[in-house]
Amino acid sequence: MGILSFDVLTTRMAYLKMRFVYISLVVLGALCLYFSMYGLIPFKGQPFVFKKERGSFLQLPDINCRQDPPFLVLLVTSSHEQVFVRTVIRNTWGKERDVLGRPIKTFFLLGATASKDLSKVVAQESQRHRDIIQKDFVDAYFNLTLKTMMGIEWIHRFCPQATFVMKTDSDMFVNVYYLTELLLKKNRTTRFFTGFLKLNEFPIRDKANKWFVSKYEYPWDKYPPFCSGTGYVFSGDVASQVYDVSDSVPFIKLEDVFVGLCLAKLKIRLEELHSEQTFFPNGLPFSTCRFKKIVACHFVKPRNMLSYWQALENSPGEECPAV
Ligand SMILES: *[C@@H]1O[C@H](CO)[C@@H](O)[C@H](O)[C@H]1NC(C)=O
Ligand SMILES: *[C@@H]1O[C@H](CO)[C@@H](O)[C@H](O)[C@H]1NC(C)=O
Repeated sequence: MGILSFDVLTTRMAYLKMRFVYISLVVLGALCLYFSMYGLIPFKGQPFVFKKERGSFLQLPDINCRQDPPFLVLLVTSSHEQVFVRTVIRNTWGKERDVLGRPIKTFFLLGATASKDLSKVVAQESQRHRDIIQKDFVDAYFNLTLKTMMGIEWIHRFCPQATFVMKTDSDMFVNVYYLTELLLKKNRTTRFFTGFLKLNEFPIRDKANKWFVSKYEYPWDKYPPFCSGTGYVFSGDVASQVYDVSDSVPFIKLEDVFVGLCLAKLKIRLEELHSEQTFFPNGLPFSTCRFKKIVACHFVKPRNMLSYWQALENSPGEECPAV
């Protein structure tokens, strides 16, 4: 009897052991399957979603677009400390003027800072120049999408009468004369979007790169067509259309790609402004003749802006060799 019960016991223990191994394998398999699937799902959990009504305006410029509709509004992304470059831009390419009889206005886009001193300086600057658009999001480099969308929201809400809008940065040189000339020649006033076209761009998955974008933020392998964020131009109607779809496309911190996603949803195609290259996101060495036939050039230092601008202003009729 003792031997018998020992046998029963060992059989029973072997059975339990098998059962344990079996259940463990099933659980392990299920976990493996779960995690491999989890990695493939584009948006696990709830990532940041753009909310178009988020935040409120802290500073608004002084313009009545219904009464005096501008032909071109330049929206320049800027930060609090860039007081000097804003002054230079106001005195050069961003000065309020008529080109070929068409009114052009420049506004600066800013977020909010925790610094009381900087906030005060910007509020005073805004009082004085009435050309600052500011909302209460944190002004940080990787909040550029919020900054751009603030500009687009401002056009949508306060200035839909603008015929064209250009979004650009404060380290750019913009030849508003040539831009106006080309826009008039193009004769397109709706669903128009132009700039330096980027039609085949891919997310950078190298963590060390400044432009690194995780699969979590953007799961697809290719970006939609977009224009370099250094400077792009669109007809005024595009602002409201982009604003309308902006909270139904995936959010990405690269503002130019984000706008590209909106345009793809709207089926607005990017177009070249001219058969020759006119947008230079990688910079271009200055010469008066060269800069007469460009629209936008990147990497221009404030101290060069004034001399480039004066060179353009002082040589209106000067002959240039054909390029
Ligand atoms: C962007 O702004 C939002 C809203 O103010 C803030 O919560 C977020 O931390 C900011 N992002 C960065 C990268 O600073
Ligand atoms: C601009 O386009 C409109 C139609 O879209 C046309 O009627 C007009 O003649 C064009 N103007 C010029 C200057 O080409």
